[in-house]
Amino acid sequence: MQIIVCETPDEGADLVTREILRRLESKPDLVLGLATGSTPIGVYERLVRLHREKGVDFSRVRTFNLDEYIGLSAEHPQSYRFFMRRHLFDALNIPAANIHFPPTEGPELQRKCREYDEKIQAVGGIDIQILGIGSNGQIGFNEPTSSLRSGTRVKTLTEKTLRDNSRFYSSGETQPHLATTMGIGTILGAKRILLQAFGEKKADAIRAIVEGPISAFWPGSVLQLHPETTLFLDRASASRL
Ligand code: F6R
Repeated sequence: MQIIVCETPDEGADLVTREILRRLESKPDLVLGLATGSTPIGVYERLVRLHREKGVDFSRVRTFNLDEYIGLSAEHPQSYRFFMRRHLFDALNIPAANIHFPPTEGPELQRKCREYDEKIQAVGGIDIQILGIGSNGQIGFNEPTSSLRSGTRVKTLTEKTLRDNSRFYSSGETQPHLATTMGIGTILGAKRILLQAFGEKKADAIRAIVEGPISAFWPGSVLQLHPETTLFLDRASASRL
């Protein structure tokens, strides 16, 4: 695990974007693993700017998102498909056929989840996985006590996540209780992992995953086993190291 303490989140986003761009130059059909949440938005803004202002081409890029809620349509503002269109896909020239999300609909979800991992394998694996981390140490929707070698699968959201998310739903609206997520084993299969974490509220999680034992109680701690992981922190998230 390599750790870079940046002066600002913007500096972290610059470094991550620069690495993606460098890899894209040598491999135009780069396979990206993508996250949602507030943390990666700075990187997405920069990728959009590179495309608009410098003509950087994403037409051969393949993407695999980490997670998605079960029971929300792609048009629902809380769905991760909506989030990704708004922050990235609508502005880039990645063909729709190259964009992948974990399955959330129809029968045989378990089989479709296995096929998601197989699809990742079939394109040669994820070259760069972008990650954020929850204040509870979660990566993707692998919340505390998730199996450390899990593949893509359906997870029940914890009470805390449900409480945190409830503000995004109008009263009477059904809030999803389930999500599909890449497993911890799937994430560990990525060749390179770039995790960003900013702000004081991430400091305990960063301390636990960097200095603590590898434990299902802090799922991100498994990244200690990954040979090509870099953490991009700011002073606040690094303050308890
Ligand atoms: C979302 C995801 C989550 C977030 C984490 C941090 O795809 O993988 O694990 O990375 O919840 O969220 P933010 O960035 O909003 O603090």
